[in-house]
Amino acid sequence: MYQPNPDRYRDMPYVRLGASGVRIAPIALGLWQNFGDDCRFDICRDTLLTAFDAGVNHFDLANNYGIPGGSAERTFGRVLAGELAAHRDELFISTKAGYTMWPGPFGDGGSKKYLIASLEQSLKRMGLAYVDLFYHHRPDTQTPLEETADALEQIVRQGKALYIGLSNYNAEQTHAMLAELEARGLRCLVHQMRYSMLAREPEQALFAELHAHGVASIAFSPLAQGLLTQKYLGGMPPESRMNEGHTSLKPDALTDARLAQLQKLQSIATARGQSLAQLALAWALRIGGADALIVGARNPGQLLDSLGALHKVRMTEDEYQAIEQVLAE
Ligand SMILES: NC(=O)c1ccc[n+]([C@@H]2O[C@H](COP(=O)([O-])OP(=O)(O)OC[C@H]3O[C@@H](n4cnc5c(N)ncnc54)[C@H](OP(=O)(O)O)[C@@H]3O)[C@@H](O)[C@H]2O)c1
Repeated sequence: MYQPNPDRYRDMPYVRLGASGVRIAPIALGLWQNFGDDCRFDICRDTLLTAFDAGVNHFDLANNYGIPGGSAERTFGRVLAGELAAHRDELFISTKAGYTMWPGPFGDGGSKKYLIASLEQSLKRMGLAYVDLFYHHRPDTQTPLEETADALEQIVRQGKALYIGLSNYNAEQTHAMLAELEARGLRCLVHQMRYSMLAREPEQALFAELHAHGVASIAFSPLAQGLLTQKYLGGMPPESRMNEGHTSLKPDALTDARLAQLQKLQSIATARGQSLAQLALAWALRIGGADALIVGARNPGQLLDSLGALHKVRMTEDEYQAIEQVLAE
């Protein structure tokens, strides 16, 4: 019988999303990889419960997560119907639609037809009456922005999602979509973007756009899918995302130059008394970085290591400059 940790909220430094009343843990758990039908259910469940016990209150999903697509939402729904059944209102659950989910033109993109149907399916898979946050997962240049905004409005007005968000929109696309949403009296709560030491594009214009509109930034893949951990420092382990080949993380990312950089970052982490993953997460959460992060985890141990970053987020100017120097190499 699962007994949640009664002290789970005691030490977590929750952050407020934009100008809203929503407060989430600065590190959330994402279910893109490691939670599908191809994974052991007991490990999925243990990782989810480890997150909950540690005070993580935000879980990030999408219609297409897991192998096959949809299976991560089913796994999550199973734990929600089991151990977490009494705790739904303690959780901030997001899902998304925008990437290919089913065959034909109605299973992809940004049409009202796709978004409304996809969210219905997601709710069924997770056994939920509503999600807390629904994202348009990526911009769709084939669909008028007005139509996607209409769909998001309908979803909120019908109470199928409490808040809406955008993901993978660049600064210009974000600007245009925020105007559409504001014209409908809707606020975009969150923008979810790729951001890490190895992917810094949001610093150019996107972060400024979001600040100007009071939209929170939540970074995905802050560990660069595992590259920014000690995982690959000694070569490619068999049990790794790069070796399994399901994602965009390919062996050609592991160049000699990259490895040398990672070794230097590891030395900076060691000097701070952290793991490389913890250094990468602390860096992404610094002032000028993202408001919150979504990590992936293969097992409870990885998640606990990542959450350990929260014990030492602050960085001196010298440490920051040393990291900048390594990243510029
Ligand atoms: N909006 C979007 O388009 C989008 C895109 C991508 C992701 N996301 C969201 O962001 C979430 C996180 O993305 P991500 O999984 O790519 O993030 P990530 O945290 O950068 O990478 C997670 C992977 O890093 C490795 N790892 C994690 N912690 C570790 C540790 N402490 N020590 C050693 N290795 C560690 C594991 O790799 P191994 O599995 O190899 O062990 C793990 O699967 C997703 O689940 C999803 O919710 C959103």
